[in-house]
Amino acid sequence: MTTAPIVPAPVTVRVPAKVNLELLVGPRRDDGYHHLATVFHAVSLYDDVTVSVADEWGVSVSGPLAAGVPLDGKNIAIRAARLLASRYDVDPVQVDIRKGIPVAGGMAGGSADAAATLVGLDHLFDLGLGREELEEVGAELGSDVPFLVAGGTAVGSGRGELLAPVLARGTYHWVFALGEGGLSTPAVYAECDRLRGDEDVPEPVANPALMAALRSGDPHELAPQLANDLQDAAISLRPALGDVLASGMEFGALGGIVSGSGPTVAFLVEDNEAGIDLAVALTASGAVRDVRRASGPVHGAHVLQRRVD
Ligand code: C5P
Repeated sequence: MTTAPIVPAPVTVRVPAKVNLELLVGPRRDDGYHHLATVFHAVSLYDDVTVSVADEWGVSVSGPLAAGVPLDGKNIAIRAARLLASRYDVDPVQVDIRKGIPVAGGMAGGSADAAATLVGLDHLFDLGLGREELEEVGAELGSDVPFLVAGGTAVGSGRGELLAPVLARGTYHWVFALGEGGLSTPAVYAECDRLRGDEDVPEPVANPALMAALRSGDPHELAPQLANDLQDAAISLRPALGDVLASGMEFGALGGIVSGSGPTVAFLVEDNEAGIDLAVALTASGAVRDVRRASGPVHGAHVLQRRVD
């Protein structure tokens, strides 16, 4: 008697978004990337990514924020799966993404899906890859992917892919104002270069005052240390972001910053209740169309459930 081959049960991985508490952009490198000193912080906005064995490679995207995600070979989750398949002997998979992270919003939603896919395939096929190996493969897909595998709070150097953990106490509460449509990350970096002209740009170094603030666990100490060198470029391309920042501060945020390359704007608030108040005020004023509340730090990509049929 022959037995049918055992097909592994689908694996669902939950992966967070990130905000850069500090994003210092150094000189442009020969490969076109920029030297960075950044502090990544994982926050509780999530994509859920389910990987299952299939006859051919496929991807689907669902949820209220699904619009604008490519469904062909350009999708970074499918690229992640194929990259892993080129290194290990794995079957084609179907990747189903439920998006809770804004698309092209400066919160690494695409990189998050790539990180989740790598973690998912590792479990689906019992590859036994360590976190270091997953981060190394992830770095080939995008500068933010290793951090979405790691999660927590971490300093990123190189082009953002070289990580070192940061000692951060406490939980920070955030309100995110979602932009109308996305911003292209390469376009924002190019605008940053254009605004700088031939100005001499030093090698960036993470700010010790920010590290001290993170050790304190006090959002009042963290707020004045938030910094983003891409903020002026994002506002230059999308001037309304300046008004969103001003509104959030007026309505009581402790600090406000464009998230990564934007157009999401991140507001740090005192606690959960202050977050609710700010979210209501921003929405009621009409200053922003859509807001999300979240807290950080949270874990990186992790297996949520393994369905047993
Ligand atoms: O690494 P990732 O694919 O996410 O980067 C997207 C784009 O952002 C790059 O093509 C580049 O234009 C810009 N970038 C950069 N310097 C970095 C990271 C990203 O110029 N350190």
